[in-house]
Amino acid sequence: MTIAQRRLAVAGGTGLIGRMLVDLAGERGWTPIVLARSTGVELTTGAGLDAALEGVDTVVDVTNIGSANRSAAVEFFGTVSRNLLTAGRRAGVRHHLTLSIVGIDRVDTGYYAGKRRQEEVVAGGPVPWTVLRATQFYEFTEQLLGLVPGPVAVVPRMLSQPIAAREVAAHLLVLADARPAGRAPEIAGPATHRMADLARRLVRTRGLRRPVWELPALGATARAAASGALVPAEPGPRGTESFEHWLSRSAGRPEVVRAGAVR
Ligand SMILES: NC(=O)c1ccc[n+]([C@@H]2O[C@H](COP(=O)([O-])OP(=O)(O)OC[C@H]3O[C@@H](n4cnc5c(N)ncnc54)[C@H](OP(=O)(O)O)[C@@H]3O)[C@@H](O)[C@H]2O)c1
Repeated sequence: MTIAQRRLAVAGGTGLIGRMLVDLAGERGWTPIVLARSTGVELTTGAGLDAALEGVDTVVDVTNIGSANRSAAVEFFGTVSRNLLTAGRRAGVRHHLTLSIVGIDRVDTGYYAGKRRQEEVVAGGPVPWTVLRATQFYEFTEQLLGLVPGPVAVVPRMLSQPIAAREVAAHLLVLADARPAGRAPEIAGPATHRMADLARRLVRTRGLRRPVWELPALGATARAAASGALVPAEPGPRGTESFEHWLSRSAGRPEVVRAGAVR
C-alpha cells in the first residue's frame, strides 16, 4: 500500500505537537485522522473511537492531560492507551506509536508516573508498537513561563537537551512509516541548556519585563531534574535546529505555542 492510501490517526491531533504532525503527515501524502474531544472522540471512554479508526493503518498517540496530579495522570494515560489499543486491535491497526519523555524513570514526578503507565500499557498491549522518548520541546520554555502567574516567572532548576517540536513531529512520521520497533532510540536537540536560561532568553526576545527566578533544587526529584537525569544517556537521533534559530522564527509569534501541562 502506498503512503497516500494509508490513514494515520493522530490521537491529540489538535494539540501542540499534534497539529504539526497532522500538517506534516498531510504534506507527505498520508490521510491524517484527528482523534480529539473537539473532533468528537473522547479517548477516556472510547466514545467515537471505533468509527474514527475505520481503515486506519497506524495510530500516533500525542494526547496530553493538563494536570501534574499523580493519580489523574496515571489514570488518564493508562485509560487512553488501553482504549486506543483495544479499539485499534478491533480495527486492524498495524502499528501503535506513542510519544513519551526522556528520563521518566529517573525523575519521579506525578506526571512522569502517568507517562510510565502509558509505556507499560503500550508494551503489554495487543498492537505492535513503538515508543519514542523525546526531551522537552523548545515550546516548553513558553509553558514554563506560564507555570506561576505574576510579575516574576518562577521556573524549576532543570537541565535539558531540548528540541523543536516540529523536528520531533518529523521523526514520528519516519517511525510511523517503518516497522514497529519497540523502544526507539531517544530523540533530543543539539545542545544541553538550563531551562531557566532559555526562559530568560525568551523573555528578552519578547521584550517582556519579567525577571526569571530559578527555584533551588530541593528534594530528590528536583535534584535529579537539575543534574541531568532528563538528558539522554545513550546516542540517538538529534535535532539540528538551535534554540536561537527557533527563537528567531517563533518568538515574535507567541501564537505558535500555547500553554500546556506541567511536565
Ligand atoms: N511538551 C514537551 O516538552 C514534551 C516533550 C516530550 C514529550 N511530550 C509529550 O507530547 C505529548 C503531547 O504534548 P502536547 O503539549 O503537544 O499536548 P497538548 O498541546 O496539551 O495537546 C493535548 C491533546 O490531547 C487531546 N486530548 C486531551 N484529552 C483528551 C481526551 N479525553 N480525549 C481525546 N483527546 C484528548 C487534546 O485535544 P482536545 O482538547 O480537543 O480533546 C489535544 O489534542 C504528551 O504526551 C507529552 O507527554 C511533550
